Amino acid sequence: MRVLFVCLGNICRSPTAEGVLRQKLRDAGLAKRIEVASAGTGGWHAGEAPDVRSQRAAKRRGYDLSAQRAQQVSAADFNRYDLILAMDKSNLRDLSALQPAGAKAELDLFLRRYAAVKDEVPDPYYDGEQGFEEVLDLVERACDLLVIELKGRL
Ligand code: 4NP
Repeated sequence: MRVLFVCLGNICRSPTAEGVLRQKLRDAGLAKRIEVASAGTGGWHAGEAPDVRSQRAAKRRGYDLSAQRAQQVSAADFNRYDLILAMDKSNLRDLSALQPAGAKAELDLFLRRYAAVKDEVPDPYYDGEQGFEEVLDLVERACDLLVIELKGRL
């Protein structure tokens, strides 16, 4: 099983989701069976480490994002991954436009799939610290439900 999280820049939301899910899979003993990655619909930050504010907020909750490097999503990813999860509706629209016909990946809106209080992870890039905490709150909760789904699909 391969899961790809996608946001706009791949330096705030999707790296956070990647780090959180990877840790939760480790805790569940599933790290070797499920591959996790993240990408951005845009390529402006390709090669960069996650935003320092995301790294700092994640570290306070025990997630290490420091080894991650941003990359842009590609059409080929739709045949590489089984599940592609968009952080907001704009990301989902951009991904739908890129999705090749007949590709294997299932594409969905991350929070809508896991029935969260909101259906989008708000972009924290222009916000203060609180925005990064909210990203973590939403992502942690949805990842708990995602782990349950993934267990059932193995
Ligand atoms: P992300 O946040 O999509 O959660 O990584 C953003 C990062 C960078 C930009 C926008 C959103 N940007 O415009 O550079």
